[in-house]
Amino acid sequence: MNNFVSTSRLARDGGKPVFPEGPPAWPLMDPEVREALLAAYADGSWGRYHGCHTERLTEQLAEHHQLENVWLCASGTVAVEVALRGLGIGDGDEVVLAAYDFPGNFRAIEAVGARPVLVDINCETWCLDAEAVEPALETQTRAMLVSHLHGGMAAMPDLRELADRHGMAIVEDACQSPGARIGGRVAGTWGDVGVLSFGGSKLLTAGRGGAILTNRQDVYQRAKIFCERGNDAFPLSELQASVLLPQLEKLPGRNRVRAENVRRLLAQCEELELLQPLSLPDSGAQASYYKLAWKVLQRVGAPCTREGFLAAIQAEGVAIDAGFRGFGKRSARRCRRVGDLLNSKSAAEDTVLLHHPVLLQPATVIDQLAQAIGKVVDSFS
Ligand SMILES: Cc1ncc(COP(=O)(O)O)c(C=O)c1O
Repeated sequence: MNNFVSTSRLARDGGKPVFPEGPPAWPLMDPEVREALLAAYADGSWGRYHGCHTERLTEQLAEHHQLENVWLCASGTVAVEVALRGLGIGDGDEVVLAAYDFPGNFRAIEAVGARPVLVDINCETWCLDAEAVEPALETQTRAMLVSHLHGGMAAMPDLRELADRHGMAIVEDACQSPGARIGGRVAGTWGDVGVLSFGGSKLLTAGRGGAILTNRQDVYQRAKIFCERGNDAFPLSELQASVLLPQLEKLPGRNRVRAENVRRLLAQCEELELLQPLSLPDSGAQASYYKLAWKVLQRVGAPCTREGFLAAIQAEGVAIDAGFRGFGKRSARRCRRVGDLLNSKSAAEDTVLLHHPVLLQPATVIDQLAQAIGKVVDSFS
């Protein structure tokens, strides 16, 4: 029995958890990954620095994104920093990012010597609000770091147009959305540089790993020079590349299944007043779900807090957790804030995130998931 079940409030009250075995495991037991691991063992490639697997992965990522240059590296976190260095961002520069984002992105801007400029998110997509960016720009603002978060898609056509008009660069963080599409283009290709993660929980996983994607030769060259220190200082190994190759082939099909299941789930949760889901992308976009976000509508005097909701839903065996903490409380010495950042503050306080593995389960399981969520919401009304 796992933690989820043993701490069940509803179970203590006599109700049975909807998922007594807890959430589905990740990564999947792909036979193709097993074959790749055995093949890497048999041919010795698992012990090499570079070779055919990293070369093939580089080529296939370039083809998949229709971009010229791919640089593989050790994590998405490092990839964001390498992307900023590739753009030549440094001391005295400012970089716009959403006040609700992955914590490492704030740190990456600081790591290159630049100053983060906090801009609010759009409350329906959980991503940087394109309309709030322009008033934030000063002469020293050289780039924006834009993440697609929790199944939401940033308004890339608007942000691209804005960046071009102001001579700014974009780092597009697609760590949570590999293979998603916006306006007919794959996520990661709207930026001057795109970033991917192959971390242990991610949709494409090698335990750790990341990549940058770019059509700009100057960015690619600077990124390489930063990473090369007699050898590649932040590498992705041959073994890691070998297990990513079969997953990349399956990504489009799996993204379709996840998106279909998200639609099914949200349709069944539509009436739940306690939970506000993110807006599904319009017909020109295709999301890719590493997480799926809702806001818990906490009200003063109402019985449900986010923490109460999380304890109850986890007791049902469902992998739903709190979102990011956001940067609203970062000191003014470390960043420049623009506006009241109210949407980001609310996202930091109210967001809950469904973890993706359940989204590859059959429709019957999605219906059980909707039932578990409904049961918890009912228990608070
Ligand atoms: C939006 C975003 N960017 C960057 C990262 C960092 O990726 P990694 O875990 O590979 O360092 C993450 C990780 O969750 C993320 O969600």
